[in-house]
Amino acid sequence: MKTGSSSSSGCSPPSHLLLFFFFLSFSHAQQSYISNFQLNCYNTNSSSALGYSCNAPQSSCSSFLIFRAQSPYVSPALISFLLSADAANISRLNSVSDVAPLPAGRLIVIPIPCSCSGKFYQHNASYTLKTLSETYFTVANDTYQGLSTCQTLIDQNPFDSRSLSVGNQLVVPLRCACPTLNQTETGIKYLVSYIIASGDDIRAIAQIFNADYQAVLSANELNEKSTIYPFTTLLIPLPSEPTEISIVPPPSSPPPNVPNPPPPPHSDGGSINAALIVGVAAGVFFLLLLGILLYLFFRLKRQRRTRQSLKKESASEIEEYRRPAFKEEEEKKKTLRSPLASTVREMLDWIAVYTFEELLNATGGFDEEHRIQGSVYLGVINGDAPAAIKRVEGDVTREIKILKHISHSNVIKLSGLCLHEENTYMIYEFAEMGSLSDWLQHKNTAGAGDSSSLNWKQRIQIARDVADGLNYLHNYSNPPYIHKNLKSSNVLLGRDFRAKIANLGMARPTEDGGREQVTRHVVGTQGYLAPEYLEHGLITPMLDVFAFGVVLLELLSGREAIFVREDEKNREALLWKAIEGVLLHGEEGKSAAGVRGFVDGCLGDDYPLDLAVAMAELAKRCVSRDAGSRPNMDELLLALSAIHNSTREWNVEEEAGGSSSGSAIPKR
Ligand SMILES: *[C@@H]1O[C@H](CO)[C@@H](O)[C@H](O)[C@H]1NC(C)=O
Ligand SMILES: *[C@@H]1O[C@H](CO)[C@@H](O)[C@H](O)[C@H]1NC(C)=O
Ligand SMILES: *[C@@H]1O[C@H](CO)[C@@H](O)[C@H](O)[C@H]1NC(C)=O
Ligand SMILES: *[C@@H]1O[C@H](CO)[C@@H](O)[C@H](O)[C@H]1NC(C)=O
Ligand SMILES: *[C@@H]1O[C@H](CO)[C@@H](O)[C@H](O)[C@H]1NC(C)=O
Repeated sequence: MKTGSSSSSGCSPPSHLLLFFFFLSFSHAQQSYISNFQLNCYNTNSSSALGYSCNAPQSSCSSFLIFRAQSPYVSPALISFLLSADAANISRLNSVSDVAPLPAGRLIVIPIPCSCSGKFYQHNASYTLKTLSETYFTVANDTYQGLSTCQTLIDQNPFDSRSLSVGNQLVVPLRCACPTLNQTETGIKYLVSYIIASGDDIRAIAQIFNADYQAVLSANELNEKSTIYPFTTLLIPLPSEPTEISIVPPPSSPPPNVPNPPPPPHSDGGSINAALIVGVAAGVFFLLLLGILLYLFFRLKRQRRTRQSLKKESASEIEEYRRPAFKEEEEKKKTLRSPLASTVREMLDWIAVYTFEELLNATGGFDEEHRIQGSVYLGVINGDAPAAIKRVEGDVTREIKILKHISHSNVIKLSGLCLHEENTYMIYEFAEMGSLSDWLQHKNTAGAGDSSSLNWKQRIQIARDVADGLNYLHNYSNPPYIHKNLKSSNVLLGRDFRAKIANLGMARPTEDGGREQVTRHVVGTQGYLAPEYLEHGLITPMLDVFAFGVVLLELLSGREAIFVREDEKNREALLWKAIEGVLLHGEEGKSAAGVRGFVDGCLGDDYPLDLAVAMAELAKRCVSRDAGSRPNMDELLLALSAIHNSTREWNVEEEAGGSSSGSAIPKR
């Protein structure tokens, strides 16, 4: 797209732009078109580049901006964040869901309040610089599509235009205006700030809005021969609120053939003919139809998914994001309003929003080589640290909301997000060593060498880390949360085998308005579900304590939560029930023997038996049927810290004793 900056004074004599409003009678002056002054950031001769002047009787009014959906700002929620507008109002006015991605180029009507700040009307948005390559010009032209100008950014921000740095938070005054007396007299109520695209002409723009052509010309102090430029705003005077504009600009505009001012050599202001309008209308109809069909398709697909019954691990991808049945009902009622809207706004302050292209580059087009597991890929986005990129269908609001409030070294961090078509891509910190379950089941591929297994010290460290993370979730995060889906495959290991709890998709606040929480829709992974939850749907932090107990047993025994009993005709058995037979009525000798038989064979004799017994006893208390007799997370953390410390002492003795390690991983 060329906007021809070579002859900036070419067509529109600058004389009529210069401080125009100062010399005209207040109530009659309209706004002067910016022409292509937006290209020359250091030319402040044109006041129009600084904004539309406060020339109306009202110092503020409601106004509208038109924004083109463009990656990464593709949904009302994201656009509302960029433009400091209200997502619910955007989705209402445009009849779209506030989180659904829109086709690129679609025109979105953005309602905003417009007010006079000194000399100029404006609506303030704020924008934080994200990369080194951003300048006042790129922010105004590329990010805000011309709704702001570099001149006004320079004027209203304290940062020197030549030494901007990442993290600078800019005030972005968006161009808007209120109708003058003269306009109000003719029935005009609103002025819409439309961004001109290449190929636009004024007559066609007026038609899109059903506005009066002459009124548009006069609102911008233009005449039929004036040239307009892409990425500049044109005011559209309207007698009523603009409604949904369902126009996706045609990919390639046919040559204009309406007799119009011949475009000057440096401009690509073309025109759209009547046939094109018909074409666009047909296109709109088709898109609408397609939209409805797609909507029905996905709705059906989702419903079918919810009906599936509780399954084991293999279905976990779906399972983890399945919402309780009653939630589904609520959502049907308010398809247009999802809570992601407000979340996204808060969120974009702390995580990055990536374009789909960036993810494609990072993962080699989601190549098999990059696949970690299921829908999770490893990628290096824009040269940053490696990240785990997870494709998620459906509602991720809850997890995002939760992760915003979470900051703990034993809980996986969310660092970015990308919306693309029906999917959301969540970008997490990458845990190099993979999941705990892979290690316990010897499926680890990220590991150090082959046939390696976790040694005792590492297992205790992992148990302590998980307890630390859970204790944080239960007692220190604000608000406190219940994870609800703890299991060894949701415990990820970093490079140094430090554990991090992942997958908070099912978590919920511990206090739900002080009420006891009961659900009719039990979800989760078998083998980890506490009896009171399975039987009565009761949700308390004790749910996590129970699941944590199962993870402790896995660490201790190397077996899975549901395992095959060789001693009982290969029947499947629950690990948490098996421990009952191991620790017999507190008889010390028998317990020790039982535990020795229970401990993971991979450890050989390379573990302190007394500590293993202590851990087994702790785990047994966690999985007791009666939720009231399970320990709290803070108690567990203390107990595990004690075992961890004793392990360190044992390790020293062990080393002094010169006993050789059976584990492939050297002790520290
Ligand atoms: C005021 O409005 C009338 C149309 O009602 C128009 O002809 C006239 O040019 C306007 N005056 C100014 C100064 O724009
Ligand atoms: C701005 O105006 C001054 C005089 O009014 C003129 O000398 C100067 O060239 C103008 N600058 C630009 C960039 O047009
Ligand atoms: C949304 O629109 C309504 C009606 O136009 C308005 O009253 C309300 O203030 C708007 N909300 C926000 C947050 O702008
Ligand atoms: C917008 O920002 C400018 C510059 O920071 C400030 O002077 C003005 O008061 C703000 N306007 C509103 C409506 O907040
Ligand atoms: C303004 O932004 C658009 C879209 O990003 C870009 O195509 C165009 O080249 C930019 N204009 C200039 C003068 O850089």
